[in-house]
Amino acid sequence: QAALPVTPGQTPIEKQVFTEQVVDQFAHARPEGEVDPKPIHSVPARLLDPAQCPTPHITSMEQYRTMYDQSLNDPDTFWGNMARDLLHWSRPFTQITNGTFEDGDVSWFADGELNASVNCLDRHAQRHPDRIAIIHEADEPGQARSYTYKELLLEVCRVANLLISFGLRKGNTVAIYMPMIPQAAIAMLACARIGCIHSVVFAGFSADSLAERILDANSAVVITADEGRRGGRVIPTKRIVDDALKKCPNVKRVLTFAHTGATGIPFNPTRDVWWHEVVSRQRPYCAPVPVNAEDPLFLLYTSGSTGKPKGVVHSTGGYLLGVAATVKYVFDAHDGDIFGCTADVGWITGHSYLVYGPLSLGITTVFFESVPTYPDASRYWKMVEDHKITQFYTAPTAIRALRRLGDDWVNQCDLSSLRVIGSVGEPINPEAWNWYNEVVGHGRCAVVDTYWQTETGANVITPLPGCTRTKPGSATFPFFGIEVAILDAHTGQELEGPDVTGVLALKRPWPAMARTIAGDHPRYLTTYMHPYRGYYFSGDGATRDADGYIWIRGRVDDVINVSGHRLSTSEIESALVLYPAVAEAAVVGAHDDVTGQSICAFVTLKPQAKVDDTIQLTRDLVLQVRKIIGPFASPKAIMIVDDLPKTRSGKIIRRILRKVVAGEADSLGDLSTVSEPAVVQTLVKMVNEKL
Ligand code: WT7
Repeated sequence: QAALPVTPGQTPIEKQVFTEQVVDQFAHARPEGEVDPKPIHSVPARLLDPAQCPTPHITSMEQYRTMYDQSLNDPDTFWGNMARDLLHWSRPFTQITNGTFEDGDVSWFADGELNASVNCLDRHAQRHPDRIAIIHEADEPGQARSYTYKELLLEVCRVANLLISFGLRKGNTVAIYMPMIPQAAIAMLACARIGCIHSVVFAGFSADSLAERILDANSAVVITADEGRRGGRVIPTKRIVDDALKKCPNVKRVLTFAHTGATGIPFNPTRDVWWHEVVSRQRPYCAPVPVNAEDPLFLLYTSGSTGKPKGVVHSTGGYLLGVAATVKYVFDAHDGDIFGCTADVGWITGHSYLVYGPLSLGITTVFFESVPTYPDASRYWKMVEDHKITQFYTAPTAIRALRRLGDDWVNQCDLSSLRVIGSVGEPINPEAWNWYNEVVGHGRCAVVDTYWQTETGANVITPLPGCTRTKPGSATFPFFGIEVAILDAHTGQELEGPDVTGVLALKRPWPAMARTIAGDHPRYLTTYMHPYRGYYFSGDGATRDADGYIWIRGRVDDVINVSGHRLSTSEIESALVLYPAVAEAAVVGAHDDVTGQSICAFVTLKPQAKVDDTIQLTRDLVLQVRKIIGPFASPKAIMIVDDLPKTRSGKIIRRILRKVVAGEADSLGDLSTVSEPAVVQTLVKMVNEKL
């Protein structure tokens, strides 16, 4: 079955961007240029030994195959059963899946009703009220605190009632800007309880970014904390909120949790209330508002090819099913498990694998407030030992950084509780994979390299602990209901069979997929559904090897991934050109051994700009990016250049910049489109001196 080719002229801009980049991304995604098909790791025997571990939900490739085939051949039965089995529906559904990518009208369980907070709290609080729902591993070691399902339910109800008293109703949006504390989950679930849509903004974003997201979502209430803590440093969270709100006159209420209890926190008595003063006055029961399966549960901003962040909208029913099913099967969750995901609640991994996934299954989730090296590099492993974590989920950047610091930090801790160790956010190099497997997992754990995106809601390509033979660096096989296609970037033709490389696309709707972009459905269609008609376009390149394993090769669009943080190059460029002396900016991702990619910016100055101290200027430019986006977006290198390589029509040729920073100036390829080739030579010389 041949894929629909992209009609010429249909989406010219996107197509141009992909094809130009796909080719050179692949060239340096893996230096060897090809994937190493060996070795294959079998499922550790320990996992299949009932004396040592609970029997995995899936124990053979045949079982995976059978279920996978059913998920594609008879999705109604497969997902219908799964949805009834894993979730509580206040009104049972009779429909399973409707709609198509092309029309952008996908729905799942369209006539069903449920409430996410009931699924995450009430049903577990009834069965085992005293089971721990959340462990808070505070920034300072030794100060962990737990919340039982019962306690969590009562607090969520109080906050939900407070939100009602603010005038919030089903369908309203609430912004949440909080450190890594359980109150973030409480705030999210309180919104879900009354049918409000939460919009969590990662607390590393600056006041400007926060304001932009509050305005875009039209949030009238913000939930925040006095201060955050990270690795012993204090973050002035409420001060940042106040700064942002200067631009957001529609925000009528700010609910602030006193986390550090510091004095002198700015407070506006007509707008602000303290959590400890108002929440405890509320009744600890709040009737859940049943919502339609397709009603949005949340929106979450993520970066795309253009500057403006996208508010990705997730449904209630399909999303919850996706996260519950993946925590069950990908992480092989069993009753009593302790799930340790180190992601921040402000990203999709935090939503899916800190909050909704583990809690919907009634297991324990760990909120980690600190950083992997505070107070020392054994912090993660000490946490695993202290809380007897059974599933540990982190990012390659952390694994690489900790690997560099040596094995002793790991070896001093007892990690025998671990069964599944996961990786997410960026491609994991085989060296880091092997270290994770051997030093952290002692060869006794399943390593799951889970590929997914904000837009996919839950893991889509991933090993399963009890059955998949893994290859370090490969995300292996599709999860249930996911049909993978690798397309020729130029023609859109599907590349069938083994040993093919192209762009990664998904062929049919799955329950947890994003439904739209807040306020901009056309952008949803042009970004994901229209580049290759009939497919969901992921933005990543991928290889299917001789054995059918999938290898993710990284982004093929203008998205870069720094320490698992997703940024758009044009977002950073926009921040740089706001600086008065800057004329133009071009940002590319450079390879970095620890963070995966790092941000490398080229700027030209306005002719009239008077700059005598370029070192000071580069410092100011870094500050500028931190102010406009946030500290995590800081460029690692800024190069002030006289000119940028451009086409005759004046378009910056980023391909050349990427090559230059990759040290591949000897293979720049065709330079005939460059309007002034001398510019390239000057650049190469300058970069060689600087990097
Ligand atoms: C992008 C999505 C989804 C959770 C965190 C990131 C990259 C994600 C993997 C993986 C290779 C990966 C992709 C993807 N990515 N997981 N296991 N192997 N690459 O979510 O911020 O939406 O970023 O992260 O490039 O498109 P996100």
